[in-house]
Amino acid sequence: MKPYIVAIFNQKGGISKTTTSTNLAVCLAAFGKSVVVIDLDSQGDSTKSLGIDPKIKQGIYDLFIGGAAVADVMVPTVFEGVRVLPSTYSLAGIEIKLSELQNSQRTLSTILAQNELDCDYVVIDCPPALGILPINALASAHAVIIPVTATPYANDGLLRTLPSIKYVQEGLNKNLLLQGVLFTINDKTKTTRKINELIRSRLGGTVYRTEIPRDNMVIEAATARLPVCVYAPKSAAAQAHLDFTEEFIDRHVSIAAKAGEVVPPRLARDKATERLFQWQARNAEAIKPDSNEHLRAKKDQLDRMLYGDRTWGERVHLALIHFFIDNRLSLVAFLLVMLIGVVALLGAGFEGMRRLAGMVGII
Ligand SMILES: Nc1ncnc2c1ncn2[C@@H]1O[C@H](COP(=O)(O)OP(=O)(O)OP(=O)(O)O)[C@@H](O)[C@H]1O
Ligand SMILES: [Mg+2]
Repeated sequence: MKPYIVAIFNQKGGISKTTTSTNLAVCLAAFGKSVVVIDLDSQGDSTKSLGIDPKIKQGIYDLFIGGAAVADVMVPTVFEGVRVLPSTYSLAGIEIKLSELQNSQRTLSTILAQNELDCDYVVIDCPPALGILPINALASAHAVIIPVTATPYANDGLLRTLPSIKYVQEGLNKNLLLQGVLFTINDKTKTTRKINELIRSRLGGTVYRTEIPRDNMVIEAATARLPVCVYAPKSAAAQAHLDFTEEFIDRHVSIAAKAGEVVPPRLARDKATERLFQWQARNAEAIKPDSNEHLRAKKDQLDRMLYGDRTWGERVHLALIHFFIDNRLSLVAFLLVMLIGVVALLGAGFEGMRRLAGMVGII
């Protein structure tokens, strides 16, 4: 079975590439599809988000340099139907390694052509910026999805990303299709609506109907190292990711139909939701303890990172500095206000005592 390979790509950072990749993967699996996620980002966010420790020994780096076989690197997840070719921190050095090789822009294509991944979909989470890794992703994919967040710079991100896709379409991968543009982290503001309308008017039907709303549950889910669709299947973001997955499959079905191929039907929405709830129940441990215990552990960890084994006095000193940095206060202005306050208080105190003494007849 040949999988449909989709790269999630935008040169801009922090616009939900990883969130889209991991939620698309678990939603596809919830709809009964089998998926392999390829984490091409050395930050390892999608690896972590699917419950895998990025300190594992072998990852996509080892595949790229020919130091391991796909079967040795592939990791199953607790979500049936989802497997990962994980990222390890060593991936950060891949640019230099690949620059020594010939045909380095097609390394991933070659790996995927030589290894039957035995799944319906491959989702590739790309790092921000255009380097050898995203080029490899685009060279090996059937389709690309561009997540976009409506900020005043959203257009710039798109304007830099579209030519990169064109560059690959003209050379490395003539069949690469821009499957769609997805609005993510969507605020309900006038500015957001205006930016979205502008992009829709330029790109027309390429933009997906579904827009993923800004939802704090996504951040909570990331803290628990779970995709939001598993962490809180009923949340606004999770529901939108399910809508998007349906739209994604529908588009794939039409693309395949044009090529005379048939995509097997997916499960119904309520069945998919049921599976997400099953995975949520299985991960109850990770989800629940965000109560005090978990938060206290996180705070202790942060304290250790910040203060190490400093003495109490040094900690107070550092905490004071952080207080000023966090609150953008100038120490000089603060001390000046304090001085004026103390002088005013002392003045008022002396005046009060003088009047009291006058009243009782001491002076
Ligand atoms: N719908 C959403 N609502 C609120 N926060 C979100 C949403 N989607 C993503 N985020 C948050 O935005 C941040 C960036 O998301 P994410 O890591 O998915 O982006 P990215 O494009 O992969 O980033 P990078 O370029 O660093 O790889 C994360 O903290 C994530 O939890
Ligand atoms: Mg990312």
